[in-house]
Amino acid sequence: MAPPTLPPQPPARPRKSNLVRCIAIVLLALIVLVGLAVIIIWLAVKPKRMVYSIEDGSIHGYNLTNNQLNATFKFVLRAYNPNTRVSIYYDKIEVTVSYDDTTLAFNSVDPFFQHHRNVTKKGLTLVAQGAALYGSVARDLGLEKSSGKVELELRLKAKIRFKVGVWKSRKRTLRLLCAPLMVPLSSRKGFTRTLCDVDL
Ligand SMILES: *[C@@H]1O[C@H](CO)[C@@H](O)[C@H](O)[C@H]1NC(C)=O
Ligand SMILES: *[C@@H]1O[C@H](CO)[C@@H](O)[C@H](O)[C@H]1NC(C)=O
Ligand SMILES: *[C@@H]1O[C@H](CO)[C@@H](O)[C@H](O)[C@H]1NC(C)=O
Repeated sequence: MAPPTLPPQPPARPRKSNLVRCIAIVLLALIVLVGLAVIIIWLAVKPKRMVYSIEDGSIHGYNLTNNQLNATFKFVLRAYNPNTRVSIYYDKIEVTVSYDDTTLAFNSVDPFFQHHRNVTKKGLTLVAQGAALYGSVARDLGLEKSSGKVELELRLKAKIRFKVGVWKSRKRTLRLLCAPLMVPLSSRKGFTRTLCDVDL
């Protein structure tokens, strides 16, 4: 009896695994290319931190009687978007001014759009009408007022969206804390520009 001839399978197996290896290499190359593209795009549009500060502040019509405060607070907020490709929508903006953890006044600001590489200055007006202050808070505020300046805190909360080309991001919440603000009464001058802490 002649020995059975070997079936022609063994050489077929390496051919098959060659094909698999080929597909794997192509897939891997694709993944690497896509990854590189993502990194390049990200580097190209990489968002830089926005810078916010309070440029000016003053208090008008201050009247603290029987632990009730009437006053108008005016501030100038400066928003700097240093990005060359990222623009920003500010959709819903709320500002609050407080003294010693007591809220004195709040207001909302009209939505606006900020182009890339833009500086926008916004005037903020907050009116306290009959704001109730208790015990030591009223006394301390009175003392500070007689020194000509009052130490206030300004908080801002906004819903923002980024825009790159035609793409728009989902909404995020921007929080600013601008403190301490040494705010002079209207008759005096000398507000010191104060940077805000940014929480995004
Ligand atoms: C402050 O308000 C009280 C009560 O409204 C008023 O009697 C007083 O004259 C006001 N003071 C000033 C400095 O405007
Ligand atoms: C604050 O303003 C309200 C309304 O104008 C007035 O009725 C109140 O007396 C004022 N209070 C003080 C302390 O000025
Ligand atoms: C920033 O944008 C605002 C509104 O579009 C515009 O009025 C202002 O001139 C711009 N400022 C700069 C520095 O580009």
